[in-house]
Amino acid sequence: MASNSKRLIDPIAREAKRLGYVARSALKLVQLDEKFRLLRNKRSVLDLGCAPGAWIQVVHERTRRQGGTCARVLGIDLKEIDRGTLAGLRHVDAARASTMTLDATEARASDLGVETFDAVLSDMMVNTRGLASVDAAASLELAECAVDLAVVRDGGVLAARGDLVVKILEGSGSVEELAKHCKPHFDKVNWFKPNATRSESREIYLVARGRKLLE
Ligand SMILES: C[S@@+](CC[C@H](N)C(=O)[O-])C[C@H]1O[C@@H](n2cnc3c(N)ncnc32)[C@H](O)[C@@H]1O
Repeated sequence: MASNSKRLIDPIAREAKRLGYVARSALKLVQLDEKFRLLRNKRSVLDLGCAPGAWIQVVHERTRRQGGTCARVLGIDLKEIDRGTLAGLRHVDAARASTMTLDATEARASDLGVETFDAVLSDMMVNTRGLASVDAAASLELAECAVDLAVVRDGGVLAARGDLVVKILEGSGSVEELAKHCKPHFDKVNWFKPNATRSESREIYLVARGRKLLE
């Protein structure tokens, strides 16, 4: 019979490790891409909350598989990922990935050095306090910041027809608020909870496709 510690090993984390990903979150982006084909034809991607780098791995792996050359990725996080660590990650082509240690709530288009991105992905998460309504409100603030950077602030860094993915914690109307903020800017807005999300977690992803350029 398996020992208690063996039974407690998270199967998603084990699978992510087997596939060479640096965090279990990789499998969430894999599932988002399988469902919505988000990474198809994407040549440039902004990855908000990129540390420790698992989504960069997935973007490079899946975009390289489609076109031979992987998408250019810019990752932003409060935590630093040094070049050596990034270059050592499986699937990552360090010549086509860079990271900035920056608070995304303060980032401006001009900080990012690229005119527009084909996709903006936000897996950013606040340090939760364990109080559902407080955590949901803090997460809404971060999610709205991702939407602002993508489609509002300075005209937004997301290209026309581009796609946006934003993680948020459900609770106290946060999901409805975010959808309201987002809908005018996109052709389609969906919600998706990857199986790789822990069953007890309140996190969910907004998937907004086809940026409309508003007059
Ligand atoms: C769940 S982790 C992201 C995992 C990442 N997608 C991966 O697969 O490796 C959430 C990240 O959001 C970052 N974060 C939280 N608030 C942020 C902010 N204001 N600006 C930038 N990054 C932030 C955290 O530092 C943390 O690394």
